[in-house]
Amino acid sequence: MKISVYDTKEQIGAEVAKIIADLIKRKPDCVLGLATGASPIPAYKALIEMYKKGEISFKDVTTFNLDEYCQIPRSDKNSYFTFMHEELFDHIDIKEENVNFLDGTAQDAAQECKRYDALIDKKGGIDLQVLGIGNNAHIGFNEPTERFSSGSYKTKLSNSTIEANKMYFQNGEMPHYALTMGVSGICKSKAIVLIATGEKKAQAVYNMIKKDITPHVPASILQRHDKTAVFLDKAAASLL
Ligand code: GLP
Repeated sequence: MKISVYDTKEQIGAEVAKIIADLIKRKPDCVLGLATGASPIPAYKALIEMYKKGEISFKDVTTFNLDEYCQIPRSDKNSYFTFMHEELFDHIDIKEENVNFLDGTAQDAAQECKRYDALIDKKGGIDLQVLGIGNNAHIGFNEPTERFSSGSYKTKLSNSTIEANKMYFQNGEMPHYALTMGVSGICKSKAIVLIATGEKKAQAVYNMIKKDITPHVPASILQRHDKTAVFLDKAAASLL
């Protein structure tokens, strides 16, 4: 893992956006794995600026998002589909047919997960996966557990994750289930960029980098992925 520490979220956003923009310039039809949450927003903002200046185009880019809630439709204001459109897709020239999400409302979740993984393979795999990290070191919605997951699957959210995310669900009950790419699926990405900011992430970051690899710390698997770059602010890096 390559670890870099910055002063501000905006600096991290600019660096990560540059990595993504360089990839798009090198490979205009690249496949991006994208994450929701507050952590990648500065990078998405910087990418929108680059697009507006005419420095990059997303017209041949394909994206796969990491995860999606069950029990709420895509049109819900709290869906990750809505989040990604508001924070990135509505502001760039990506083609809607190249934007991919797991369908959290699918009747047959296992079948939906198979479809998603097969589509990622068909597109040649993910060139660059953007990740955040949960307070409990989850990646995507891969919660601490006894065994690392492989392909995409339906998962029950932990109390810690529900606590951290329920503030977004003012009008309704927060879903307790989600579909997520699995840990092995994430690790198949050719390169990974993980962003963590704020002191609430310090313990998870420490466990990810310094502790043994264990499914109780899902992000620790990234120690085995030799093209993983971790971007931290000083607060998130404070226990290292
Ligand atoms: C959610 C998402 C993760 C994200 C995490 C951290 O649980 N499923 O993909 O990394 O939140 O979010 P934030 O960046 O807001 O701290």
